[in-house]
Amino acid sequence: MVVKNTETSYGVVAKVFHWGMFLILFGLVVVGLYMSDLPADTPEQMGYKFGLYDQHKSFGILILGLVVFRLVWRMINPVPKMPDTMSRLEGLSAHAMHMLLYVIMLAQPLFGWLMSSFGGYPVKFFGIGLPALAGKDKAMGDFFHEAHEITALLLIVAFAVHVGAALFHHFVRKDDVMTRMSPHSKKLD
Ligand code: HEM
Repeated sequence: MVVKNTETSYGVVAKVFHWGMFLILFGLVVVGLYMSDLPADTPEQMGYKFGLYDQHKSFGILILGLVVFRLVWRMINPVPKMPDTMSRLEGLSAHAMHMLLYVIMLAQPLFGWLMSSFGGYPVKFFGIGLPALAGKDKAMGDFFHEAHEITALLLIVAFAVHVGAALFHHFVRKDDVMTRMSPHSKKLD
């Protein structure tokens, strides 16, 4: 089991970050879309809806922590090179898309935390109370609510482009860009 990345392949830590965060982000988007439209007219409905809000907030804060560690891990590791068959423009676009994904993964939970703080709602990390990032302000709360929705949409679009690019590499270019992030790939160098 190779822990660190090499010039040509991803190590186990990068793969665990990649697939683990994918699962959590997928769950956050699905639950986020589902919970915000739930009714909250009776105490039971409120308990169910806001219970999901608590879970959503906890996993969202987890993403914020994980993305910081992931970025640090990326900085202290080699990033596997793009294949020589890719043009300079293709390489730059791939890099820009990866950076966009990191920016969204940072901004999305931060906007959620700011939305709750400005809205005057508590934020807990699996039961541990976290400080509000700002005082109550309805207009700012509405602003970050919008921002949280827009970044969710951006995340879905960026994710679709990312998967499309991986499939293009695998089936059209027939290079190893997709397989080297696969949980099963054992290539060392
Ligand atoms: C990367 C992490 C996150 C993702 C991908 C995510 C995704 C989403 C999505 C897709 C929605 C539905 C938006 C809509 O159409 O109304 C949503 C709603 C919501 N999110 Fe997040 N979220 C994340 C982190 C957070 C965090 C950290 C918090 C707070 C600390 C938070 C608080 C909320 C709240 C309160 C709502 C419901 C808003 C409403 O009442 O309409 N989210 N989230």
